[in-house]
Amino acid sequence: MVTGAAGFIGSRLALHLAQRGHIVHACDWADDSGCTPLDPDPNSTASRLRAARMATVRQAPGVQWQRLDVAHPSQLLDWMGSVRPERVIHLAAQAGVRHSMQAPQDFVASNLVGFANVLLACHQHQVARLLYASSSSVYGMRSEAPFEEADRTDRPQSFYAATKQANEAMAFSFHAQYGLKSLGMRFFTVYGPWGRPDMAPYLFAQAIRRQQPVTLFAGGELMRDFTYVDDTVAAVTALAQHEARWQGAAVVNVGHQRPIRVIDFVQVLSDLLQTSPLIEHAPMQTADVALTCASESRLLSWLDAWPDTPLQEGLGQFVQWLEGWDPLGNRQA
Ligand SMILES: NC(=O)c1ccc[n+]([C@@H]2O[C@H](COP(=O)([O-])OP(=O)(O)OC[C@H]3O[C@@H](n4cnc5c(N)ncnc54)[C@H](O)[C@@H]3O)[C@@H](O)[C@H]2O)c1
Repeated sequence: MVTGAAGFIGSRLALHLAQRGHIVHACDWADDSGCTPLDPDPNSTASRLRAARMATVRQAPGVQWQRLDVAHPSQLLDWMGSVRPERVIHLAAQAGVRHSMQAPQDFVASNLVGFANVLLACHQHQVARLLYASSSSVYGMRSEAPFEEADRTDRPQSFYAATKQANEAMAFSFHAQYGLKSLGMRFFTVYGPWGRPDMAPYLFAQAIRRQQPVTLFAGGELMRDFTYVDDTVAAVTALAQHEARWQGAAVVNVGHQRPIRVIDFVQVLSDLLQTSPLIEHAPMQTADVALTCASESRLLSWLDAWPDTPLQEGLGQFVQWLEGWDPLGNRQA
């Protein structure tokens, strides 16, 4: 079972699992137009992306689709009871650090109530293992690198990070109380084709293509450990398969320990787009952190191999997709 399957990572994962012959029970709260209760405009870029991703996933052989809100207790519980999944990969959430500065209330239902419902349903239906999306943002503001899973995570810099940190604590309690085995996967800035329109790679690329200013916070000196989406999907798939290697209520970084400065990221992107960026500087936002850098030791100790797509190649795939999805001259995406 994959939740959040109209999303960026969830759609890619659902397709990957179906292509490998798995039966995938996929769900999302988006309707056929990609609209969600928080984004009811079918013409928004996010809605159009969700609709297009969902259409591809729903057509894949082996995928059973269900529209549901994970924050609605009986919808999830009933569906899980009818499906009886062996493993649940829970990716549905309200994502986005900056969005949580503007509207923290948007995060409560999906990320806190929804997560509690997933735990309850997994417990009630005796799901063997739960894998769920956590985030590098749980590490908060710090300069020591790389980030180890055992490091403290009790100083979230944003409400979004607080919900992810809460998810890890909630999962821990369900293991202590009921023995539910779970794995929180701390994703590090995932990018690639079909990426989220609120994330830096999409925003930067669209600004560069349209010769509009690219806003760089803190002089572009913020450092991010970017992870190509197919590397992320490969890690999630392998972690679901090698589940005997993680026990209890575990957490793991899914990142490559190769952070780069955002300004350098913009340079690689502009080279691929063959267009010079117009840079506009802005002060660092309070919810932002200066650095993300994953220690990948734990992940590598659990997996036999993990793909490491070079930034140039991953961004090349992203640019190729973006130019097809939104050819210049068409309406703005
Ligand atoms: N993309 C990243 O760089 C990144 C980094 C760290 C963590 N994460 C986490 O990974 C997961 C997937 O991220 P993404 O980038 O694919 O985000 P996304 O927004 O593209 O996908 C999330 C999906 O969840 C769905 N959803 C939200 N609330 C729901 C609800 N109440 N019921 C059912 N569906 C609901 C949304 O409609 C969306 O399709 C999220 O949990 C996110 O917090 C992502």
